[in-house]
Amino acid sequence: MKAEARTDAVIPAAGVGRRMGSATPKQYLCLAGKSVLERTAEIFLNCDRIRRVVIAINKSDTRFSSLPIASDPRVVVCDGGDSRYLSVISALEHSTAPYVAVHDAARPLLSTRDLETVLDYGERDDDGAILALAMADTVKLGDEGRCLRTVPREKLWRALTPQVFKREILLKALRYADSAGQEITDEASAMELSGYKPRLVEARDPNFKITLPQDLMIARSLFGDKTC
Ligand code: C5P
Repeated sequence: MKAEARTDAVIPAAGVGRRMGSATPKQYLCLAGKSVLERTAEIFLNCDRIRRVVIAINKSDTRFSSLPIASDPRVVVCDGGDSRYLSVISALEHSTAPYVAVHDAARPLLSTRDLETVLDYGERDDDGAILALAMADTVKLGDEGRCLRTVPREKLWRALTPQVFKREILLKALRYADSAGQEITDEASAMELSGYKPRLVEARDPNFKITLPQDLMIARSLFGDKTC
C-alpha cells in the first residue's frame, strides 16, 4: 500500500511579472492551451506524494477563480504578500502538512523525476533539499557593464525550485529572516541564515523560470505549443 502523502506543494503566484512586459501577469499567460499556473499546479496534482497544493495569489487577482483547478478539492488558495517570501509565509500558514515543496508558479517545465528526487532528499532530514544546477558558464563579477574579475565556478550553483523542507522549520526560518531584515529570494537562503545546510540536488531536466518573453517562447516550443 502506498504510504500517505506527507508534503504539500506551496506555489507563490502573486507576482506581476514586470520583466515580461505583458499586461497579463506571466503565470496567466498561455502555454499549450492552459495558463502557466495551471501547467505548474498540475505537475503536483498529478503526483501521489503531494497532499494538497497551496497557491498564494495577488490580493487584486481576478483570474484565478475562473481556472478549472480553482474547484479542485486538493487546491487551497490564499492571499500573497508584497514580496515572494511573504507570499510563501502566507501559503505555509495555510498548509497543515509536515513537509512542503515550494515551487515558483513560473516554472511549468519541472519533470516528475526531478520532483520525486528532490522529495526523496527533502523529506529525509531537517536541512531539506533544493533542486539546483551546477554553473556551466564562466562567471564574471561585473561593475557598470565591465568585467572586474572571473569568479571560480567550481562551488557555484543556481538555485531552482522545488525547495523541500519541514514546514514548521521553514516557517520559523522565514520569520527570522524577515525580522532580521534580510532580503530573501528563495527558501534555502532563509534556512542558511538559521544555520541549516540544504542539500543541493542536481536537476536533470529543463526547469527554467519564465521571466522574459524569450523564456515563454522556449517553453512553448518544448510543449510543442501551436495554440497560443
Ligand atoms: O518575479 P519572480 O519571477 O522572481 O517571482 C517568482 C515567483 O514568486 C513567481 O511565481 C511569482 O508569482 C511569485 N511572487 C509572489 N509574490 C510576490 C512576488 C512574486 O508570489 N509578491
